This record gives sequence, C-alpha cells and structure tokens, in this order.
Amino acid sequence: MADNIIKEEILSFIDKASSYDVIVLKTVNSTNSYIKKLTKDDAPHETVVIADKQTEGRGRLGREFFSPEGTGIYMSILLKPDKISLNPSLLTVAAGVAVCRTIKSISKTPPAIKWVNDIFLSGKKVCGILAESTADSKTGTINNIIVGIGLNVTTPSSVFPGKLSDIAVSLFPENTIRNKIIANIIDEFKRIYDFCDKECLIEEYKSYSCVLGKKISFTKGGETFAGIATDINMEGNLIVKLENGKTITLKSGEVSLGSENFVG
Ligand code: BTN
Repeated sequence: MADNIIKEEILSFIDKASSYDVIVLKTVNSTNSYIKKLTKDDAPHETVVIADKQTEGRGRLGREFFSPEGTGIYMSILLKPDKISLNPSLLTVAAGVAVCRTIKSISKTPPAIKWVNDIFLSGKKVCGILAESTADSKTGTINNIIVGIGLNVTTPSSVFPGKLSDIAVSLFPENTIRNKIIANIIDEFKRIYDFCDKECLIEEYKSYSCVLGKKISFTKGGETFAGIATDINMEGNLIVKLENGKTITLKSGEVSLGSENFVG
C-alpha cells in the first residue's frame, strides 16, 4: 500500500477542532530549520511542517538524525506560547508523552522514554525529539519554540547506516499509515498542551520512563558520575542519587543505562 504523506489525509484524521496549519514537503534540509525560517515571516502558533525526507535532519548534541525518504515521520511544531511557563524541556516531555500515547495505540510493544528525549521500543531507539527556541533580538524573550519529532516508521534495519542499525528500530505498525500516525501525534500533543497541567504531564512521562529506579551514568564537566535515577521533577529535570550519597539535578544532557556511554 502506498504510504504517501498527504496534507488532506492528515487533516481528515485530525480532530476537527484543531487549528493547526499543516505544511507537507517532499524533501527539506530539516523541518526544524524550515520552520525557524517561517518564523521570520511571522508563521502562526501551531504551524506544523512535515517532510517525507530530510537531507540534514538534526538531533541533540549536534548529531545527525537519519531521515530517509518514505519510511519515517519528520515533523516540527511551532508554538508561540503565551503560557511560556511551558519551557522547551517541558515541551520535549509533552512531545514524548504524545508520541508514546500514539505508539501505545498502534503497537503491541510498549514504548519507553529514555530521559529526556529518546523513545525506545524493545531496547532500541524509535523516535527522537529536538526542541529549540528563538528569542526576540531586542528583549531576549523566547518568542518561538519549535518541537521537532523524528519517528522511524517502516525503515528496514538494513537501511540504517553503520552502527545505527544496532541501536535504531522502526515501528512497523500494522495497517496504519503515516498520515494517521501524524494526525494522532498532533491531536495528542494538542490535548496535552491545552489541557494537561505540569503534575499530570510529569506523572504520565514518569510512567513511560525506563531510567527511573535504574543505575545510570553520565558525564558533566568532563567527569563521569554514576548513581540511581530516583525522580523527575516538575521542570522535567532528572534527579540522581550519586554513589557518594549526594543528590544531583540534571537539567539537560544524556544519561546511559548499563554499559552504554553517556554524554552530559
Ligand atoms: C535526537 O535524536 O537527538 C532528536 C532527533 C530529532 C529529529 C527531528 S526530525 C524532525 C525535526 N527536524 C530535525 O532536523 N530534527 C527534528
């Protein structure tokens, strides 16, 4: 079955009350970069850009996000929040929960979130989230937040280049096309953004966490630390009880479980 990304189909699945402005592109360097350009022409709150392929898909920490044609979902949502209390990391949390709810509804395998922005299926990464913001040049106030979501849908493992084939996985949903998945993610994200308070959002995020209660390691300022991830606070930060008994709050960075190498 052809699985083309089609704006009209997405709109037919999306909640009718939704006010999202959907733009579908065949190929783009990065949907996050594209939407950033649109903000210069005053693109409205809730603009969504979706591409069938990215030539320069970006992940966190300057990494590439592999974005081949026809088999993934590469989308960015523009928010001009009046509720600016929702900082970019909480929007990463909101997007993570929206994607997990969507995966749960179409996959027999339960999704898990590896703090802060990676979603795993059966121990391999299926989705990454990259939230970025722009600020008003005069006041320095954040005026745009861009939430980028990259989801491997039907990319075969043989297509992932190099080491990625060992650590990345695709969703392979039964009888579900990308347009429906995209509409679902948009609807869930909107529900969370409009109606969820911080407490319920963080509680749900924690319910998907695969790091809580686990031994983790991370590097900070060139030093490697190990400890137990004990909690996620209301700002989406990870609380870690270190081996020396001290407690540390991680605002960003990456942690490793088991023998992985983590970069902070
Ligand atoms: C990560 O794994 O560190 C985050 C990956 C985020 C990828 C998405 S795909 C859509 C949007 N455009 C990008 O260039 N990146 C994000």
